[in-house]
Amino acid sequence: MSSSTLDLSGLNFNLTEEHLAVQEAARDFAQTELLPGVIERDTAAKFPTEQVRRMGELGFLGMMVSPDYGGGGMDTVSYVIAMEEISKVDASCSVVMSVNNSLVCWGLEAFGTEEQKQKYLTRLAAGEIIGAFCLSEPEAGSDATSQHTTAIDHGGHYILNGTKNWITNGGSAGAYLVMAQTDVEKKHRGINCLIVEKGLDGFVVGKKEDKMGIRASDTHSLMFTDVHVPKENRIGDDGFGFKFAMSTLNGGRIGIAAQALGIASGAYELALAYSQERQSFGKKIFEHQAIQFKLAEMATKIEAARLLVYKAARLKDEHKDYVQAAAMAKLFASDVAMWATTEAVQIHGGYGYVKEYHVERLMRDAKITQIYEGTSEIQKLVIARELLK
Ligand code: CAA
Repeated sequence: MSSSTLDLSGLNFNLTEEHLAVQEAARDFAQTELLPGVIERDTAAKFPTEQVRRMGELGFLGMMVSPDYGGGGMDTVSYVIAMEEISKVDASCSVVMSVNNSLVCWGLEAFGTEEQKQKYLTRLAAGEIIGAFCLSEPEAGSDATSQHTTAIDHGGHYILNGTKNWITNGGSAGAYLVMAQTDVEKKHRGINCLIVEKGLDGFVVGKKEDKMGIRASDTHSLMFTDVHVPKENRIGDDGFGFKFAMSTLNGGRIGIAAQALGIASGAYELALAYSQERQSFGKKIFEHQAIQFKLAEMATKIEAARLLVYKAARLKDEHKDYVQAAAMAKLFASDVAMWATTEAVQIHGGYGYVKEYHVERLMRDAKITQIYEGTSEIQKLVIARELLK
């Protein structure tokens, strides 16, 4: 067993006044500004433009970015706390928040040049524009080293060709971090990450995907045909793109684990409240042991998921190795989300199967947490490799 599995230093979860203030602010925002209209946005698959603008205004889109670049300068624990609260109500909004914070802003701040930070990070952190992370392709999902998109070096610029699939914020982003192969001979060490602005000649946004869950979020394929990208838009040294993608995804997985936790706890809170209102056989359904057992098990598994999510966040804040902890948190929390939302629908009975009661949406939203930013199978692979280190 690897030492990180036994490392209990991440178990100090004393929340500070600041953490509690973030929790209250996120909860308040979710209840007052996200809850109204969440069902309608899901049904119509309508991107939450106004709600995302407000998330930017309130500082939820650049929470961990240094104040030097207009961010909140907060720790990862604050970020997962906010992600949980927002995901309880609207996972379509929280995926925008997660991708912007942990894949785009974090990646740019950690590895970008000063010019790139001034030009893009400041606007991304303020929510003036949102970002997209473009790794997946029609034939490269889990097998991410197998990039077919090419970025051929033409001296002062790269010429980008290829297609990206299932890109979150695909239609609404202003800055896209695109992974592409520059030197096929070097395999994954020949991949670069380029910052691509919307509106460049040859860059076409495909149609919005009609999804099972997180329907209001904006998922598109992207087509690049001879797109000229200036060389100063490359992140890191030549060939750093795959390492960049993997490093940002390590942190991204903490965000998605927190999203899964929020979906699970949102469904649990609705089921608990419903169990105290609904009567059957002459008493509240909470008084039936069959329902109590379900709620007891939900509460226990959600608490376990929360501990894993906080542990991964704390390790990241302490600059310790969090690769395995992040994968464990995502693997476990996403399974808990799928299971707990299904139980919440069951507790609601027939009402659970209709849109008005929210739990059916949460159940549909839960599924993607087992797929994006690395499927559950990829998380097991990451965890297993770390066991041998
Ligand atoms: N952290 C840092 N570096 C890592 C890493 C990690 N977790 N995992 C691999 N690497 C590095 C390796 O060290 C290696 O680098 P060197 O050769 O320079 O040493 C390089 O990456 C290649 O690694 P492997 O040889 O292990 O490659 P592999 O093909 O056997 O496995 C993989 C790679 C782990 C399976 C990887 O392809 C992977 O994580 N796949 C899943 C991709 C994924 O998560 N996609 C999500 C899409 S983004 C998304 O969903 C965002 C959204 O919109 C919501």
